[in-house]
Amino acid sequence: MNIVSGMRPTGRLHLGHYLGVLKNWVELQKGNSGYFFVADWHALSTSYEDKLHLKNLSIGLAKDWLSAGIDPEKATIFVQSSVKAHAELFVILNMITPLGWLERNPTYKDQIEQLQKDVNSGGFLTYPVLQTADILLYDADAVPIGEDQKPHLEISREIVRRFHHLFGEDIFHEPKALLSETPKLLGLDGRKMSKSYGNSIYLTDSTDEVWQKLRTAKTDTNRVRKTDKGNPEVCLVFDYHKEFSKPETVSEIDAECRAGTIGCVQCKKSCLSSMESVLSPMRERREKFSDSAVLEILEAGNHKANQIATAKMEKVNRVVFERVEV
Ligand code: TRP
Ligand code: SF4
Repeated sequence: MNIVSGMRPTGRLHLGHYLGVLKNWVELQKGNSGYFFVADWHALSTSYEDKLHLKNLSIGLAKDWLSAGIDPEKATIFVQSSVKAHAELFVILNMITPLGWLERNPTYKDQIEQLQKDVNSGGFLTYPVLQTADILLYDADAVPIGEDQKPHLEISREIVRRFHHLFGEDIFHEPKALLSETPKLLGLDGRKMSKSYGNSIYLTDSTDEVWQKLRTAKTDTNRVRKTDKGNPEVCLVFDYHKEFSKPETVSEIDAECRAGTIGCVQCKKSCLSSMESVLSPMRERREKFSDSAVLEILEAGNHKANQIATAKMEKVNRVVFERVEV
């Protein structure tokens, strides 16, 4: 299967990104052709006036992927803006996409409300069209995404059908969404883990930084003494255990918390060690990738992506421009 997915370079990745999307990518790169790209043009749709340094952000993002286990020998990783065919296909798809489809997009409406700044540009409205171009160039069969991206993929599928209908030749794959099973990981304050809430554990955090964050995290507030019986269901640390600890550990913690035989500090230490079993191999891998090594990997990926995308555009241009009436 061809697997295509992208992320916007907006800053360091946290454990929520890892569980929600990245872990899925690492699994999917095995036995499939994975194309994972830095969606830097997409990043401009909401932050064009910020003082971003997109090049550094892109290298940082790719480094997060590599440290999480994306293997450049298996998957192709590249930068969207280095493959101009994405823009070319975007232009053509824009011509055939009815405005109504974009205006009705629930993610679009939500974001306008949430972002609380004026993002109402053409690029913002047509975000899903560019995303469709990203996907179609590589004949994606499946697109691993988070729940919030589902409406975008539905638009992609509609665009494919419309293109085929209008131009009379089926040259694209209709992509399917691959949703990850993990529900949204909560941040240290109980809200969704998000950079803007300052409640995140980052893939780049040191052991000590992770511990400081866990140490101060709220637990079951009814537990004052270690011997008080607790309720793990209302405790964030227990949620983390469920994501990162072995099932035996989770049931032990569950029982001991309810019985009042484990203290929260000890429970948090055990949680730290489970998180570290994911984070510490990431730190080791990260060591191996200097910025220049990451750039080289991206350049090789850009080259490969360009070849595939250019070949696809030849087909698209033939169908669009050399169409013969029958
Ligand atoms: N919209 C995605 C996000 O916000 C990023 C993205 C851009 C993407 N193009 C894509 C995801 C193509 C999957 C496929 O995270
Ligand atoms: Fe939460 Fe663990 Fe304390 Fe129970 S023992 S309240 S699960 S931190």
